[in-house]
Amino acid sequence: MLDARPPVLEVTNLKKHFPIKKGLLRRTAGYVYAVDGVSLTIRPGETLGLVGESGCGKSTVGRTILRLTEPTAGDIKINGTNITHLDKSALRPYRRQMQIIFQDPFSSLNPRMTVYDILTEPLRIHRIGDGDARFERAKELLDMVGLDRSSLRRYPHSFSGGQRQRLGIARALALSPQVLLCDEPVSALDVSVQAQVLNLLKDLQQALGLSYLFVSHNLAVVDYVADTIAVMCRGYIVEQAPKAALFKDPIHPYTKALLAAVPDPDIDRPLDFAKLRSGRFSEPAAWPAPFGLNDGDAGTMTEVAPGHRVRMSGALVAQEAA
Ligand SMILES: Nc1ncnc2c1ncn2[C@@H]1O[C@H](COP(=O)(O)OP(=O)(O)OP(=O)(O)O)[C@@H](O)[C@H]1O
Ligand SMILES: [Mg+2]
Repeated sequence: MLDARPPVLEVTNLKKHFPIKKGLLRRTAGYVYAVDGVSLTIRPGETLGLVGESGCGKSTVGRTILRLTEPTAGDIKINGTNITHLDKSALRPYRRQMQIIFQDPFSSLNPRMTVYDILTEPLRIHRIGDGDARFERAKELLDMVGLDRSSLRRYPHSFSGGQRQRLGIARALALSPQVLLCDEPVSALDVSVQAQVLNLLKDLQQALGLSYLFVSHNLAVVDYVADTIAVMCRGYIVEQAPKAALFKDPIHPYTKALLAAVPDPDIDRPLDFAKLRSGRFSEPAAWPAPFGLNDGDAGTMTEVAPGHRVRMSGALVAQEAA
């Protein structure tokens, strides 16, 4: 069923090319095409899973959407407002609407700050509430993520990995965002804890109507949380479809190879990307027609069924005009 609600996040033709500097004079010798024309849309309460091998550009997509990294090209809209070129102060209210949860709950929390300081820091930065209101909010956030209120005076090192990730989630929720960018939020955790944290994220989504951009290299994790899945390879989204369609009817050779590598997705069994690389499945020039991409041909996302789009060779003028 097609969803007519306006998107909370709409990204069009996003590109991030990092210069490669060489020699004493640090001349630009070329570019890493980390993200090369990514378009995606997320509606309220929806989860878009972004899956792909290490280095394909998943984190760069997330960081560029948040403008932690400046995009080379493209547009980022939050609730219809184009934030791509807003300056720091104009960007501030939109920063509140989109927060990030990082992979590593150990390094993403300042070890010298108490839980109280960690949870109230975003409120202080955005000058929200007085001391009492912030204290109440900190307790509420702990309730939301299933941690004890007595945790407020403790330091991050005294928590387990799963508990620290709960703190990371609580901090991300402090400003009541609409969109959470989850960058591998469970991949550093024990398998037994992963499911608990994923369930927490699902419960929070239900309760708060959150939208997620969920980055993972684990197809089982994405399968568990996402409504729509985008498969990324070498800076491109190569296929995007509602979850059921992607698993049942994959079309792109890279997606097919990905699924063949894990016929039965399991959180415990991550994808074998080395096998994909050795089979040259992640080599765009080696993809068979009509999917192969060469220099100067980034292909075009072509709709093959409602909501199911696949990147095919060549620029399809009719599609782009539509
Ligand atoms: N600040 C940077 N400067 C130069 N190159 C960068 C920078 N950040 C990322 N890259 C390059 O961009 C490409 C995409 O990196 P990115 O971190 O987005 O991949 P990823 O899909 O998140 O990988 P992983 O699964 O390992 O987290 C890589 O080739 C990486 O080396
Ligand atoms: Mg990453």
